[in-house]
Amino acid sequence: MNRPRGEVRVFADAEELSRAAAREFVHLSQHAVAARGRFTVALAGGSTPRRVYELLAEPEHREAVDWGRVEFFWGDERAVAAEHPDSNYGMAAAALLFKLALPPERIHRIQADRPDCDAVALEYQLEIARALGVPADGPPPPLDLILLGMGADGHTASLFPHTEALREPHRWVVPNHAEKPRADRVTLTFPIINVARAIRVVVAGAEKALTLVAVLEGPSDPERLPSQRLSPDVVWLVDRPAARGLAGGRDA
Ligand code: 6PG
Repeated sequence: MNRPRGEVRVFADAEELSRAAAREFVHLSQHAVAARGRFTVALAGGSTPRRVYELLAEPEHREAVDWGRVEFFWGDERAVAAEHPDSNYGMAAAALLFKLALPPERIHRIQADRPDCDAVALEYQLEIARALGVPADGPPPPLDLILLGMGADGHTASLFPHTEALREPHRWVVPNHAEKPRADRVTLTFPIINVARAIRVVVAGAEKALTLVAVLEGPSDPERLPSQRLSPDVVWLVDRPAARGLAGGRDA
């Protein structure tokens, strides 16, 4: 169903949602490789995408992706070491990356465990520019897919309510601070998120239902609900418990 704040696809449960997201990844990767010879993707952190990554490592999906042509980035990262249980890189590595024989130069981890998160953000912007072959001081380049989640407070990536990072007009990557555990973060910004060729947000669980209604159908309040700043081209992949409050939240 197309809405002013994106298309919403509802799935029976978190497993069906994860399968749909894995299929989207495969489809978008095949299209990008056919069109441009590679697939540039920014992975989401948090817990919801873990099952998506696990499914991508299973033969049905694993054999359908040309992994040697995939450039992996992250939408955000906590200020922890790669081995830390809260690391978004570490979650994706355990669920997917370590199961694939990938060239390490194509895995672009945000090294947010280094002391100066602003320097890390500046260096990550350089790394994205280098990998995509564009000037680092120019407009943000389009990644083929940016996979995101949404917090119960309406944040996405590490773009939290009422934080300066929401209003960043030029930088592609900035440091930010969360009012929750693992407070120091490095995150992509809306300028680079909203030029992606595909933006997919995976949202599961009844605890997200009220926020999803507010984000998708409530009055505009992008300071309080950062996910409202996402491009209207976004596709929301949600399970039925999270979609419960949506008008016409029909199954995909
Ligand atoms: C992070 C994520 C964050 C996440 C949401 C949803 O680093 O925490 O990037 O934006 O996607 O908080 O998290 P869950 O999937 O765990 O609900």
